[in-house]
Amino acid sequence: MSAQEFKRRRRRLMGMMDEHSVAILPTAPVYIRNRDVEHPYRPDSDFFYLTGFAEPEAVAVLIPGREHGEYILFCRENDPKMETWNGLRAGQEGAISVYHVDDCFPIGDIDDILPGLLENKARVFYTMGAHPGFDQRLIGWVNRLRKQSRAGIHTPGEFVSLDHLMHDMRLYKSSFEIRAMRKAAKISAEAHRRAMQHCKPGMMEYQLEAELLHTFMYHGARSPAYASIVGSGANGCILHYVENSAKMKTGDLVLIDAGAEIDCYAADISRTFPVNGHFSRAQKALYELVLAAQYAAIEQVQPGNHWNDPHEAAVGVLTEGLIELGLLKGSLKTLLKKQAYRRFYMHRTGHWLGMDVHDVGDYKIDTQWRVLEPGMTLTVEPGLYIPAASKGVAKKWWNIGIRIEDDVLVTREGHEILSADVVKTVDEIEALMAGVKSTRRVKAKTKPVTRRRRLTQ
Ligand code: GLY
Ligand code: MN
Ligand code: MN
Repeated sequence: MSAQEFKRRRRRLMGMMDEHSVAILPTAPVYIRNRDVEHPYRPDSDFFYLTGFAEPEAVAVLIPGREHGEYILFCRENDPKMETWNGLRAGQEGAISVYHVDDCFPIGDIDDILPGLLENKARVFYTMGAHPGFDQRLIGWVNRLRKQSRAGIHTPGEFVSLDHLMHDMRLYKSSFEIRAMRKAAKISAEAHRRAMQHCKPGMMEYQLEAELLHTFMYHGARSPAYASIVGSGANGCILHYVENSAKMKTGDLVLIDAGAEIDCYAADISRTFPVNGHFSRAQKALYELVLAAQYAAIEQVQPGNHWNDPHEAAVGVLTEGLIELGLLKGSLKTLLKKQAYRRFYMHRTGHWLGMDVHDVGDYKIDTQWRVLEPGMTLTVEPGLYIPAASKGVAKKWWNIGIRIEDDVLVTREGHEILSADVVKTVDEIEALMAGVKSTRRVKAKTKPVTRRRRLTQ
């Protein structure tokens, strides 16, 4: 981790604030799993983005122009006894030397010190509602200042939403962030390949999940970025199926949606493949339709295009294909207008990706879809889901759930598929599952990317 990178980010944020303002960012609390067992700790994304500090019980305060230092951190004190039980802490000295904090205080002193930092400031940049317990404490400190108004102390008059500034910064990934995302995607791609290679009829879905987790952990990703989905047969038609508890049957497809988290950056990859290693005719027809929609959507990931262009490309291809297969009836134009595809494709084609799997950043500016720019990272994930007993749908299509999802970075020239290391054509998947060694590096086929439009900015 580069301390300089975090410093650059803090400087950029403070550049958007003014001298009479202060920004306050608490990190995430520790969440209890049951009784005295805690969930594995994950810092708040905005807090970590600015600090690189991963301990709980910490609050960062940024005060542009403050004489004694602009970056203040409240964190846990060193405590040899507690550290013997629960692990080492940076302490105040460590925070200053390792994390380049200007001024550091014990978290236990925050009630005494923080109100003084707010004194006579005009504006507080803060994200309300993310950590409700902390909202209450902040309101308490402000009220304390209000009571001192007769002593000539000014209370900040304005609360400004910090998330708006932070989330626009986070939307544009730096080269440091792109490196972390490439790594998360590479590990996740290897995990998906491993799952394909280990899959056999009769195995449990959680046994495939175990193969994914093995690869994540082995490469140092201590947690998935979100709960892994391993859904076979009918379960593939449940969008956020996470039980992963069924036995996988020959003749069924299995849909895996899983990604590792590296240094707080997520990968988010989906692949769908036959449990027995061979696509049936019906499965292949639908799979190749989803894949064609995905290629068409990825091709739209170009600087200068709009956020919705990939989605529009995907639904165009899907609707046309569903008509050809007899799953939708009517004219392409009318069906698109009616969004008839939503019966089988009920989610959108992607989302921003970054520190959070559904990452931050606006999708529209006022009423217009956002223009894609280099450094933005998104998923492209069309799918089709046809549950059993779908009215008017031939039986051969039942229980087919397919999603193909890649992670795509917008570049100056077009795009880079971060998750390209996991195969996705029918032939490639069947060959990998049959154990056929490829002479070339196993890599998803991607259509050549042409630069279709000039950069607009
Ligand atoms: N894994 C959640 C999603 O694909 O959006
Ligand atoms: Mn996903
Ligand atoms: Mn996704």
